Amino acid sequence: MKRIGILTSGGDAPGMNACIRAAVRAAINVGIEIIGVRRGYKGLIVNDVLPLTRDEVSNIIHTGGSILESSRCPEFETEAGRQKAAATLRNQEIEGLILIGGDGTFRGGATLADKITVNLVGVPGTIDNDVYGTDFTLGFDTAVNCALQAIDRIRDTARTFQRVFFVEVMGHHTGFIALHAGMAGGADSLVIPEDRVSIEDICSRLQEGHRLGKRSAIVVVAETENPGYSYQIAQEVTNRTGFESRVCVLGHVQRGGNPTAADRVLGSVLGAAAVQTLADGKKDKMVGIVGGNLTYTPLEDTWERKKELNPQLRQLVQQLW
Ligand code: F6P
Repeated sequence: MKRIGILTSGGDAPGMNACIRAAVRAAINVGIEIIGVRRGYKGLIVNDVLPLTRDEVSNIIHTGGSILESSRCPEFETEAGRQKAAATLRNQEIEGLILIGGDGTFRGGATLADKITVNLVGVPGTIDNDVYGTDFTLGFDTAVNCALQAIDRIRDTARTFQRVFFVEVMGHHTGFIALHAGMAGGADSLVIPEDRVSIEDICSRLQEGHRLGKRSAIVVVAETENPGYSYQIAQEVTNRTGFESRVCVLGHVQRGGNPTAADRVLGSVLGAAAVQTLADGKKDKMVGIVGGNLTYTPLEDTWERKKELNPQLRQLVQQLW
């Protein structure tokens, strides 16, 4: 393999730059040229590419976002868009392509298969952690720590004013960020899509806590298809219990910032592994880490199979309320 490409697509995640840096340096080390595609599939469609050198990826390991930029690209969902993307790969003589993103990114890449022969390797990068085939995705640890810092700060004011706070975190359709931030932040209740609790349940948990002497509480809410819906929950809880409540929707603040050490290490390991996978002639795999070991999951499993929340953690968080 002489020349490979790399792109980031969908929601950016801290650790993507560490991954790009590692991929570029690993490729150069084994004599493979590496081309960056800007703005994900949009860049492939309009042939927006740049050769990546060692210098190009200097001083980026500590930064959030993606130096290659990203997009959500409806045009890539059309036949005409994919034809243009395939033409770029052909013209640039790109034989292997590293896709950093979530399952939607991998699924998108696979649609190129009937247009061009290109070896695809995925690297799981999304703050949501909702990708099958890896324990953790790039950006998840940083996002959880960001949410945790917010929860810790909110706890101070919640306690001072004896209020119930609803802290809404991202996660797309999953509760990974909520579960981990809630566990680490000592949440009094969780509202996650995997465990639809009723308003009655939330109220009785909070009332029970109050009976045991708690004068303030933190409820961590995972956004679902309705970001901002914790306002509605808070209003209903206040109406039923009389507890004063406030809402804090953390939003995109969770997507930015310096990656944690864990995300930098994960990005570096997976970036180098993605290059090695292509150099070894493997294709249509996602590299990940499961139980401390490097794994190669068939790309299609990432959208066909669902990653579950850790059941022990789910149970434990409830036991500690
Ligand atoms: O997938 C990452 C994510 O941040 C989700 O948690 C969130 O639902 C979504 O992206 C927000 O997307 P956008 O940045 O396009 O508003």
